[in-house]
Amino acid sequence: MGTVFKLFAVSPPGLEEITLEELKRLGITGKLTKGGVEFKGELIDIYRCNLWLRTANRILVRVARFKATTFRELVERISRYPWEIYINEKTPIKIRVTSRRSKLYHTKAIAERIMEGISKRVKFTPVSAQTEEEGESLIVRVEKDFFTVSVNSSGTMLYKRGYRKDVGEAPLRETFAAAMLLIAGYNGEKPLIDPFCGSGTIPIEAALICTNTPPGMYRGFAFESWRIHSPSLWEEAKKEAKSKMKGCSAPIYGFDLNSKVLKSAAENASRAKMNSFITFKRASFPSLKMEEAYIVTNPPYGIRIPIKDTENLYRKLGDWVRQNFKRAKVVLLSPLPRYVKATKLPLKRITSFSHGGIRVGVYVGDVE
Ligand SMILES: C[S@@+](CC[C@H](N)C(=O)[O-])C[C@H]1O[C@@H](n2cnc3c(N)ncnc32)[C@H](O)[C@@H]1O
Repeated sequence: MGTVFKLFAVSPPGLEEITLEELKRLGITGKLTKGGVEFKGELIDIYRCNLWLRTANRILVRVARFKATTFRELVERISRYPWEIYINEKTPIKIRVTSRRSKLYHTKAIAERIMEGISKRVKFTPVSAQTEEEGESLIVRVEKDFFTVSVNSSGTMLYKRGYRKDVGEAPLRETFAAAMLLIAGYNGEKPLIDPFCGSGTIPIEAALICTNTPPGMYRGFAFESWRIHSPSLWEEAKKEAKSKMKGCSAPIYGFDLNSKVLKSAAENASRAKMNSFITFKRASFPSLKMEEAYIVTNPPYGIRIPIKDTENLYRKLGDWVRQNFKRAKVVLLSPLPRYVKATKLPLKRITSFSHGGIRVGVYVGDVE
């Protein structure tokens, strides 16, 4: 048995339980906490989680936990941990610090002392990261003088799968789109329709689920530069994933009125290598007449538009679902319950999350 790491999957608040379920499917038992799931695993588990988790934003390795009330103590304690495992001369380091109810609270000074403690241990001065793309490499949380220092194995946040370059006006984060599909119980066996698809995030995430493609298949990760990284084990994880990938039998549709965003959607789908499984079309509530389907969508939020107009749009959505599908599982996002009420569909709010600074509810229901 290899080294066992203390790990933490960071989820967007509101989606922790879905991440827990995803981990279960990978054979991992985790403990639910606010903001994510704690679990233990070996190097292969770090690889699998980064590759497969659709709703987590980062996979952290909990490296250090100690108490410190002075900067001198902080430098000394930090220098006791094996940072050389994760950090080399070439890895740019970016430290994010949050401090609450602690003697040491100046986050910039804490970050500087942590860098100093690490340099003392590894016997070189790590380079500081300059760009957002380099990701946050160390996440430091100080709570009542207790420091928890974690290494971010993912690098750039996991919602950045690498396929989205062009974005619509209010693009949905990939992790949220995946969460909505997992909440619906979508597994690719029945048609999936997003009548307000914008830049195509929901249909693309659906195609990734339908084809059993890991969302991290075509991007890089911070762990690839660790000293303990095993390229052969990583190749094995990817090979195992490839062997599980399959085609998609039920259709996936994305409709929108805006031809510019539809063009982006098609380009994004090509980059994700999912274009052959999705039909994007310029249309508003087209006639489809299906026995059964999943309707998963992120309708316009109605900001800067009269409430009445948005209510009308939701009313039309409700009519369209009732007229076109014998049975449908509906999952939609909405910032206002009155919009959802306007659909007259039997929808229940099951969770909520903050998206682009707006709190949106996730509404789910079966229409029969
Ligand atoms: C909140 S955005 C969807 C964003 C999308 N989930 C994404 O990831 O890019 C809502 C979309 O609804 C489209 N839309 C607005 N009214 C519409 C209508 N009547 N029929 C079809 N699409 C419409 C807009 O063009 C916009 O792209």
